[in-house]
Amino acid sequence: MSDEPHSTEKRFSRRKALSWAGFTALAAALGGFLYKHISSTSSVHVESFSTSGNGQKKNILVMTGSGRTNGNSNLLANAFVTGAKEAGHTVNIFHTAMTPVHGCMHCEACWSTGKPCVIDDAFDQLFPLLEKADMLVFCSPLYWYNFSGQIKCAIDRMYPYSKKKRLRSMNVRETMLLMCAQSHFLRSFAGPAEAYRQMLGYKHWTDRGRLFVTGVDDLGDIVGHDALAKAEDMGRNA
Ligand SMILES: Cc1cc2nc3c(=O)[nH]c(=O)nc-3n(C[C@H](O)[C@H](O)[C@H](O)COP(=O)(O)O)c2cc1C
Repeated sequence: MSDEPHSTEKRFSRRKALSWAGFTALAAALGGFLYKHISSTSSVHVESFSTSGNGQKKNILVMTGSGRTNGNSNLLANAFVTGAKEAGHTVNIFHTAMTPVHGCMHCEACWSTGKPCVIDDAFDQLFPLLEKADMLVFCSPLYWYNFSGQIKCAIDRMYPYSKKKRLRSMNVRETMLLMCAQSHFLRSFAGPAEAYRQMLGYKHWTDRGRLFVTGVDDLGDIVGHDALAKAEDMGRNA
């Protein structure tokens, strides 16, 4: 008689433990199912933000970072260019992975030969475009949670334009960032998005828009997706 409440309590806590175990197992199974579902479908998702231009015609330089001619990011870049040209902007496109530029050597010999950098490579074709541009558009696939190496090398080569003693300047005022990745998670872009934010702060450039596309991997995955329409709109409103 004296141990009855005790055994009721025991039974109650055993039942409680069993129901918790059941709930945890069910939650784990559901989580596993959802994860499998998300990672096995090719659902493409786009997140974008942009502000409207001031109506002035601009000189826009689009720098791409993929070596795949009809790759997803190059299709984004082409869509942007179509919109920007339609709006009357002057647009140049430089494919950093097709005409690769060497990384910066930090040799501090900038401008010593009259040009921004002493290295003779495709940067000789890029720097006149950089010096003319009012707006820069970086368009890269996500590689190892970052910009592609090729576009990063080209960005590094802008170093001479940050030197106090320079022969010429860049006149860029505004920038945009367009990126795509195989990942289904927007947070995968956190690294380059933060680098972009810091670059803008350092150079006093104004962010005019960002577009991130998740879930694209194979050539053509982005075809037919409204990410391309959004990129075109960003060009039109540049
Ligand atoms: C070297 C390399 C690294 C990659 N790293 C990532 C990555 O970190 N995260 C990701 O989601 N996708 C990654 N990918 C996949 C690409 O971002 C994806 O295939 C993208 O759509 C390629 O764009 P493109 O067609 O413009 O080249 C990587 C691809 C390559 C070739």
